[in-house]
Amino acid sequence: MMLLELDKVNAYYDKSHVLQDVSLAIEEGEVVGLLGRNGSGRSTTCKTIMGLVQARTGAVRFKGKDITNKSPFSIAQSGIAFVPEDRRIFPNLTVGENLRLAALSGRKGAWTEKRIYDYFEVLGERRDKPAKLSGGEQQMLAIARALVANPEIILLDEPMEGLAPLIARNVEEVVRNIRSEGHTVLLVEQNAQVAMSLSDRAYVLSNGRVVGSGTTAELKADEAMMQRYLAV
Ligand SMILES: Nc1ncnc2c1ncn2[C@@H]1O[C@H](COP(=O)(O)OP(=O)(O)OP(=O)(O)O)[C@@H](O)[C@H]1O
Ligand SMILES: [Mg+2]
Repeated sequence: MMLLELDKVNAYYDKSHVLQDVSLAIEEGEVVGLLGRNGSGRSTTCKTIMGLVQARTGAVRFKGKDITNKSPFSIAQSGIAFVPEDRRIFPNLTVGENLRLAALSGRKGAWTEKRIYDYFEVLGERRDKPAKLSGGEQQMLAIARALVANPEIILLDEPMEGLAPLIARNVEEVVRNIRSEGHTVLLVEQNAQVAMSLSDRAYVLSNGRVVGSGTTAELKADEAMMQRYLAV
């Protein structure tokens, strides 16, 4: 059984038909890339999984159970964590408060607040300080919030976007480590090379449709696809 599955999902912003029959599936332990150019519908796919955008038709299934259009809170509680592209840190709460709030909508598990501080040293140093952080630190906190909820799958929406190259490299390393720990991830990424190096498989979106999918090796070999739909 697939861990997470979208079955012909259609979603709209008002009259604009943004997701068109989007089907994809992720197995436990996989890192699956969600690729495509700006505006192709990648974030909307994540938001529809989370119940933040309504699916008008089609279904989202998690562990075989229909979760289509359930409340974002109940979807989070069932074991899906979302790291949105705008990160949504609460800068007036401390780092620790940000983490404990995230833990409330999750489950207990291997990722405790203490383990987060061991893993992300910079967060440990700031646990009792307001989360007024640099871009890179914010992204670390956003990822840490997802982890501390001990989800069964993490949706990561462009985690390296907008960061200076050196900082982006650090975040990439974190994603790589998360992967090697066996976490299941849906990774939205703009840069095809980076995405391919982090994923087992990927789907390519264009204008809200899945126009390609395959293992990263298959996609890399498909130069026409890479040129047409991806930033390479
Ligand atoms: N809240 C919204 N209201 C109306 N249209 C939206 C809204 N959010 C996104 N769109 C439109 O829906 C389409 C898909 O947007 P989406 O955010 O899913 O793209 P994306 O692949 O994540 O790209 P990027 O992150 O680079 O913008 C785009 O045409 C976008 O302009
Ligand atoms: Mg986006």
